[in-house]
Amino acid sequence: MPLPQEFIEELKARSSIEDVVSSYVSLKRRGRTMVGLCPFHSEKTPSFTVYPDNGSFYCFGCGAGGDIITFIEKIENLDYMEAVRSLAQRAGMAVPESEEDRGLAKLRMRLYALNRDAARFYHRVLLSPQGAVGMEYFSRRALTRQTITHFGLGYAPPSRFALVDYLHQKGYSDQEMIQANTAFSSRNGHAVDRFHDRVMFPIIDLRGNVVAFGGRVLGQGGPKYLNTSDTPIFSKGRNLFALNFAKDTAAQGLILCEGYMDVIALHQAGFQNAVAGLGTALTPEQARLIAHYTGEVIASYDADTAGQRAASRSIPLLRQAGLNVRILVVPDGKDPDEFIRSHGENGHARFQQLLDSCGNDVEYRLQKLKKGIDLKTPDGKIQYLNAAAEVLAALDNEIEREVYAGRLAEEAGIQRAALLQQVQSVRKKKQRRRQKKEFRTFRRQSTGAQDRLNPDKYQNLRAARAEEELLGAILDYPENAAYAAEKLSPEKWITAFNRRVYTLIVGKMKDGKAVGLTDLVDSLSQDEMGKVAGYCARHAGVPAGRPEVDSYIRVLLEENDKQNVRAGSDSDISRYLQELRAQKK
Ligand code: UTP
Ligand code: MN
Repeated sequence: MPLPQEFIEELKARSSIEDVVSSYVSLKRRGRTMVGLCPFHSEKTPSFTVYPDNGSFYCFGCGAGGDIITFIEKIENLDYMEAVRSLAQRAGMAVPESEEDRGLAKLRMRLYALNRDAARFYHRVLLSPQGAVGMEYFSRRALTRQTITHFGLGYAPPSRFALVDYLHQKGYSDQEMIQANTAFSSRNGHAVDRFHDRVMFPIIDLRGNVVAFGGRVLGQGGPKYLNTSDTPIFSKGRNLFALNFAKDTAAQGLILCEGYMDVIALHQAGFQNAVAGLGTALTPEQARLIAHYTGEVIASYDADTAGQRAASRSIPLLRQAGLNVRILVVPDGKDPDEFIRSHGENGHARFQQLLDSCGNDVEYRLQKLKKGIDLKTPDGKIQYLNAAAEVLAALDNEIEREVYAGRLAEEAGIQRAALLQQVQSVRKKKQRRRQKKEFRTFRRQSTGAQDRLNPDKYQNLRAARAEEELLGAILDYPENAAYAAEKLSPEKWITAFNRRVYTLIVGKMKDGKAVGLTDLVDSLSQDEMGKVAGYCARHAGVPAGRPEVDSYIRVLLEENDKQNVRAGSDSDISRYLQELRAQKK
């Protein structure tokens, strides 16, 4: 159900695009606009522009653009409704709900309640005689009774209907259990417990709701961990295990590890700032979630190859989210849980030592480079320094580069200046490559053989340009709109995309309202919004007056005449051809 237009208008009126964008991008005022580094592509000089006057943004570098809703959709990776909700929450407005929304909200409430009851059930079973095997398992892994209570750990009995029966008593339907994924559906549609004879780890969201479970087998047999699939209340890629506890002390940095047990062992040892992913590779959403709570993350992945591979995939994501990343490698190929357990009483102190001494990811990468290179030979030295220069060249911070260059130079017994020079030359090479690429994109866009959204553009560039200017003039200065509408009907427009936009505007104007860029958001896609925002951006600050508008209209009328002549001559030719054919016969 589309939201009422008045609601969207009020929402936009109450949300300042400057404020909202400023919480993601650091903006500087430039005249009537604000500029900053584009959050949607990587750049060194700001080409991301916010136009507070009409509530839009546009990036001259990558073409991203639109209004405040588009911005939230893109940056938070949300759909339209989710973006509206998030903005509404920020603006303190209640989103009007459709029947469908209310239905979904109700279902969610039921699923939260169901999961909570399920967690209570598993926990009670663990503490009962039936749960003795689970208890033994946890005590083998050195968990205290207090830790078990704190995390609400549980045990799922072997029977196929233990939880199903309990939840039936509580009034839940088979359907609800299946939707919560605590049960799967048997062939005849009945709910059957999903977890059997496993110790259970409830996953709790930031508001304290149980939203999912991880269940570990007690002995061998796979899968080792069975996790809740995505449900209406749970998305693996957007949650982190134990963030509900860790968020309170997150300011000191979050320790990101791989497993449930690592997190639990760390919390028990006094590191309440430990979290873990949920059995999948780290997602950009998770990285952003972390960045929401802290500026620093200590990645403590397992020392095995899988763990190290996961670490090198996650680091760029974490960095992109603006986090300072340190890497903690647990010695002797252990994971954090084993490490802490193996040190018994001293677990806390020993892990603290690792924390204190672990470097950031640059150090980690430099260490890794050294493996397999014989630094005693001159060849090895050169090989290492070349590779190290590549790593350092990727650092944008000059001080960081100098610090590491100093350390490396000392280590390898060469001059710091020489190393820095090498780094500089790698940077230059990279920069040239980037510039070339930017230039190519620019050329493609400007002379561009193609315009994906408006393929007609290059059939008639003159008309397309006039249309683009005119649309900008209309959207930026509504007084132009009525004037244009009177002089130029949509049929006169030459390129399909621009005609569509113009038709939309004229249609909306019929209600007697001034139409701005942001009124188009429900009719255009994100990319299309970006394109139109680009038209507007060209005008910003330089009002298009009557003479300009007249000249665009004139161009379009001229181009129309030309087309008619061409169409005319085309049919002349075909008549002529027909005559020729007739003569031949
Ligand atoms: P690990 O295999 O490293 O397990 O998986 P672990 O955490 O050390 O577990 P223990 O110590 O043997 O009990 C790390 C994480 O990957 C996910 C789980 O979240 C686990 O904690 N995982 C692993 C799964 O989701 N499924 C699996 O079958 C295995
Ligand atoms: Mn482990």
